[in-house]
Amino acid sequence: MYKILFTSSKGGVGKTTVTVFTALALNRYYNRKVGILDADVTDPDVPRVLGDRDRSGLQVKDFKLIPKIVRGVRVISMYYEVMDDVPFIIYGKDRAERFIRAFCKDVDWGDIDYLFIDSPPTTTDEIMGILQHLDIDGAILILQGNTKQSIAGAKKVYSTLKYFNKKVLGFVCNMSSIFFNDNVDPEKELGLKKLADIPLERKLRIDMFRDLAKKIIEIVEG
Ligand SMILES: Nc1ncnc2c1ncn2[C@@H]1O[C@H](COP(=O)(O)OP(=O)(O)OP(=O)(O)O)[C@@H](O)[C@H]1O
Ligand SMILES: [Mg+2]
Repeated sequence: MYKILFTSSKGGVGKTTVTVFTALALNRYYNRKVGILDADVTDPDVPRVLGDRDRSGLQVKDFKLIPKIVRGVRVISMYYEVMDDVPFIIYGKDRAERFIRAFCKDVDWGDIDYLFIDSPPTTTDEIMGILQHLDIDGAILILQGNTKQSIAGAKKVYSTLKYFNKKVLGFVCNMSSIFFNDNVDPEKELGLKKLADIPLERKLRIDMFRDLAKKIIEIVEG
């Protein structure tokens, strides 16, 4: 199982959107079995982006969480009602840490090929927990377009990941448009590979993420 973290230096740049659509594309076009770990324990968004409004379906069996299958991908998220009272988790000041630990250690993902981890808005305790509990195979940085500001943010995240000896597979320029473009060369600035440009579109489609899914397979599976 390849474990890939989708992350960014700030909120609202499209981490959840890119994570979910790429997971759907990997599944639809390349037949890979994918799980998504929604690491945003305060504001879980993965089910919303998947279009799942039904809070049932996530199960606990023999003290293991069994992901819910939504549109062909397996999902673990605080959104689901079983998380309202999971017995092996005690609420307290370390709440986020406890849930993340459970999400990393106590899930029966089955035979998935890829585990995608959707990060919360900032470099929070949740991400530190993920890096501590899961040996990720690589991270993908999400930038808002091609701006100086997003590149500066990505540099910070990149250096944090390097500090923890984590590989960064590359970056995605999301919401690419004239609004988010300073005509800089992010590949040169970051010393990383651009994996995709995802346009700013009112209605995103899974096929827009097909190339990105293919690139991930090429990099990860060799
Ligand atoms: N390429 C795109 N084109 C148009 N809208 C987009 C695109 N990508 C994301 N959005 C929209 O931007 C908003 C933020 O996206 P998303 O929730 O995926 O960001 P995020 O980085 O996960 O945010 P957070 O840090 O709060 O978790 C959403 O309303 C989403 O629909
Ligand atoms: Mg999000």
